[in-house]
Amino acid sequence: MLVDVGCGTGRYSSALAPHFKKVLGIDMSESQINVAQQNTLVNNVSYMVASAEKIPVKNDSVDLVHAGLAAHWFTVDKFLNESVRVLKTNGCLALHCFYPATEIEYKDLSRDLSAVMSEVWDTLLQHIQKSIMQHLLRQYQSIYEAIPLKDKELITDIPLTIQMSISEIIGFIQSICMYEVFMEKDVKKAEQFLIQTEKRFREILGEEADSVRLNVIIKYYCAFACKH
Ligand SMILES: C[S@@+](CC[C@H](N)C(=O)[O-])C[C@H]1O[C@@H](n2cnc3c(N)ncnc32)[C@H](O)[C@@H]1O
Repeated sequence: MLVDVGCGTGRYSSALAPHFKKVLGIDMSESQINVAQQNTLVNNVSYMVASAEKIPVKNDSVDLVHAGLAAHWFTVDKFLNESVRVLKTNGCLALHCFYPATEIEYKDLSRDLSAVMSEVWDTLLQHIQKSIMQHLLRQYQSIYEAIPLKDKELITDIPLTIQMSISEIIGFIQSICMYEVFMEKDVKKAEQFLIQTEKRFREILGEEADSVRLNVIIKYYCAFACKH
């Protein structure tokens, strides 16, 4: 059994479902769970509103506790203790996220495009608590150190290159949770920020703006542990 903690709309729960008999996605947000339930196409996945600090399954019953882009939001010690409680012997914990910085490569325009993206991150990081930001900037180092299991490993600086159009990059920015917080604080300002960002990308790329696919480089990190 897999438990996907902070599953959001369930994209990792669904992606991992073929590898498990049963998948449970949990999230504290009812609206996210509603979307996840609507999206489900496979019958071995179920979803439940529940918190990472109180995982609603029995002791020693889970093969993998997974949290994608989510562990930094949890009360870390409580979540880790719960994970160890629910894991079977030889069960694993896998936590992963990406570094809050993004390089963009395209011909000789990489420096200018990356500079815009760097300013985007500067703005987004203003909309997150310092303690959460530290987890991201330290690539989960302190979450990793807090895992109460001996067999563990932290892998950092994993480069991932994704080709994206300008509108996909704007969609990516919109999907970052800090942007959602920005929207909650000031919708108009947040929308204007996105329009300005797109405009700046378009100015740099000129006539190619609509046709081009840019290399977006994201840095991932993963903390793994196994209960023996
Ligand atoms: C950035 S989203 C990631 C969602 C999903 N894992 C993905 O990558 O698409 C973080 C999710 O964690 C959830 N979350 C935050 N704190 C939580 C907690 N204490 N317990 C359960 N879910 C939590 C939020 O509601 C949100 O859906």
